[in-house]
Amino acid sequence: MIIKIFKFLSLLLCLFSFPRLVESKQIITFNRDWKFTKGNPANAQLPNFDDSAWQKIHLPHDWAIYGPVDSLGDGETAKLPWRGEAWYRKTFRLNPNDAGKRVYFLFDGIMAQPKIYINGQLAGQWDYGYNSFYLDGSELIDFKQENVIAVHVDTRKHGSRWYPGAGIYRKIQMIIVDPVHVGIWGTWISTPDVRETWADVRVLTTVNNFSGQDKKVTIETTILSPAGKPIATQVEDRRIGAGKNAEFDQWFTLIRPQRWDIENPVLYAAKTIVMRDNRICDSSLIHFGIRTFQFTANDGFHLNGRRVQLKGVNLHHDHGPLGAAFYPRAMERQLEIMREMGCNAIRTSHNVCAPELLDLCDRMGFVVFNEAFDKYDEKADILPETDFFEFGERNIRNFVLRDRNHPSVVIWSVGNEMRDVQPNINGGLRKLQAMVGYVRKYDPTRPVTMACDMPNTVHLRHFDYYDVHSWNYGRRYLPARTAEPNKPVIISESGSTVSTRGFYELPLPTHKIDFTDSRQVSSYDLNAPWWADLPDDNFMWQEQDRYICGEFVWTGFDYLGEPTPYDDWRAREGKIAQLQVSRNSYFGIVDLCGIPKDRYYLYRSHWAPEKTTVHILPHWNWEGNEGQSIPVFVYTNGDAAELFLNGKSLGMKYKNPKSSIPTERYRLMWNRVIYEPGELKAVAYKEGQKIGEAMVRTAGEPVYLKLTPDRSTIAATGEDLSYVLVEAFDKNHYPSPKADNLVRFTIEGPATIAGLGNGNPQSLEPFVADRCRLFHGKAMVIVRSEKDRKGKIQINAVSEGLRSASASIISQ
Ligand code: GAL
Repeated sequence: MIIKIFKFLSLLLCLFSFPRLVESKQIITFNRDWKFTKGNPANAQLPNFDDSAWQKIHLPHDWAIYGPVDSLGDGETAKLPWRGEAWYRKTFRLNPNDAGKRVYFLFDGIMAQPKIYINGQLAGQWDYGYNSFYLDGSELIDFKQENVIAVHVDTRKHGSRWYPGAGIYRKIQMIIVDPVHVGIWGTWISTPDVRETWADVRVLTTVNNFSGQDKKVTIETTILSPAGKPIATQVEDRRIGAGKNAEFDQWFTLIRPQRWDIENPVLYAAKTIVMRDNRICDSSLIHFGIRTFQFTANDGFHLNGRRVQLKGVNLHHDHGPLGAAFYPRAMERQLEIMREMGCNAIRTSHNVCAPELLDLCDRMGFVVFNEAFDKYDEKADILPETDFFEFGERNIRNFVLRDRNHPSVVIWSVGNEMRDVQPNINGGLRKLQAMVGYVRKYDPTRPVTMACDMPNTVHLRHFDYYDVHSWNYGRRYLPARTAEPNKPVIISESGSTVSTRGFYELPLPTHKIDFTDSRQVSSYDLNAPWWADLPDDNFMWQEQDRYICGEFVWTGFDYLGEPTPYDDWRAREGKIAQLQVSRNSYFGIVDLCGIPKDRYYLYRSHWAPEKTTVHILPHWNWEGNEGQSIPVFVYTNGDAAELFLNGKSLGMKYKNPKSSIPTERYRLMWNRVIYEPGELKAVAYKEGQKIGEAMVRTAGEPVYLKLTPDRSTIAATGEDLSYVLVEAFDKNHYPSPKADNLVRFTIEGPATIAGLGNGNPQSLEPFVADRCRLFHGKAMVIVRSEKDRKGKIQINAVSEGLRSASASIISQ
């Protein structure tokens, strides 16, 4: 009876306690008004240090994306000045009424080796630039006076084979909470048993008692339905000793649960209220999903009982012209572009991602291959003096505790292509066993894998330590599959096809590795480095080997650095001059600014067969090639297309699903179209019915510019973005596929240019500037709102000889 009364009272409390709930914990985004300097001035950690001459900045901040670009610099890391030391400082005051509360700082990622000082004292440090970490600053904070937080970062020893970025590139939160509170990442929600008609939900909550006295603590957890309605509540009391913590283990059985799925990503929530001394002292709200999944050895990946082919992409952490600075909208946009292509899975290659990526995947319905490390034997922040096992356990702990409530996460990867693990040198297998063990310690509910690339090591059976075979490129998975057929298979990297948006080179390559000294890669989608494949190869293998769970293409977007094949390696081999090394990758299905390459439509035609895709390539501006033959490809979800040049049929082509040449199965190719200027049109058919058409036309001289923002309303948060596409057209409104005009931009109203670019891997233009060249007729300007400044924003573009353009967006 007493329990019932208590439950009733606490439910009442829950209903009427909203203002007190807010008071019970303050989560303050700590991104605004920092001071920044490069270098290492003495005593910069001290509160009275004079930072008045330092630059004023807001987070997220990547100091290296501002340049300068070093034309002779290292292309592997984007020719940008990311190596060095720097300091960040911020002053802040707390409410004196909060004295006695705990104050945590939660950092989502700082590159690299951050040391954090509060009021002159070292408060904490971290050693992996991609990981989230937190520190308890309670003992160093002064509630009555101004406080100073100072962060020293040092990337000098960081090793990278792509652009890592530099500085405090992800958000910081300050969390002010009662001494009795749920620990950071202290809630673990799992769904141990999920059936058609019911599901068990387990909410395990770790509560810390830093109050200095033993406390009777009550926690009340309510499950909220996807519509936000309370559907079940549990209350539990425990005594927690002073300085101790306790785990509350609450189980719920939900009737007829709605499933989280890529097609219908419904989320439940668990709302927890912590009480002590008859008052609410903390609360939390965590979203979760109810779903079943299985990686099967013989029938691929199953989600909620049905087979789902993983149509995935690898995403690196950078956002092109924004560098490593993480803006949630930039991430959301990447996922929107991938979703439109038919993608349903993301691999967070190769490091711990920003936590918002997983929130977005939960909400948008992507499954995630969540990866912690790349080749941890040789790269990133593992230094000669690092205690590998201590580092590994601590970093895996944060990685798994932070991410384990996300329904989108379906597999953990302890690393990519580890050079010591696969051949078992320097204790490789021992390291692997330890890393997998750490993951399972914090989450025994999901499978673990590592991405491999050395088939000649399978006799060492490293796969015995983990659950799923993940292989990069080709059919390298076959030896592992033969050695251990009872394990599921994922192609963790497919493709690595390379191309430059809008660039076409003739003749077509005889071999995939035929690269010329143009320093651009032809967009006929027939080139790849020696270890890599064409999209069509992977489509075919997956159709043949139905046991494969799916693929993750390398990569969804071009990224900074790793500009294979115009990279430092070729320069070292004397094949190109260092000056000709590019600064960003050619691997992306989409270019560095988010403009789709031709390949986008090849994937869309295969991955999203329900959507009409008719895409024709190349452009039709081949001045000087009149009478010569130009190959024309059509990417369509149809099975056939007829091509017309200036109204004259060039015949029908059919996909050949039985062909041993993969490109013949998935593309329609007219290899000899005699060029004459005009209009080239493809009409596509599926099972004899016309499904759509596409056209390219010979454009005249560019005459005018056009601006197209991806969003016409943005939020005045200081972090919201609109991506404005810049294009040149001729007098007939045909896009100009070769325009390379220099365009200058001005902004009127409450916004700034956060970055711009044109996707040209060879460009040496700065990413943060007021001008850039068009590349194959296009460029992108990224406009960022200003905090609390609302109103109309006008973007103006001018270019000599072209009619200028303007576009407006609203910040509200
Ligand atoms: C893989 C590697 C990736 C990237 C890719 C380029 O072997 O895992 O990080 O380097 O090659 O093709």
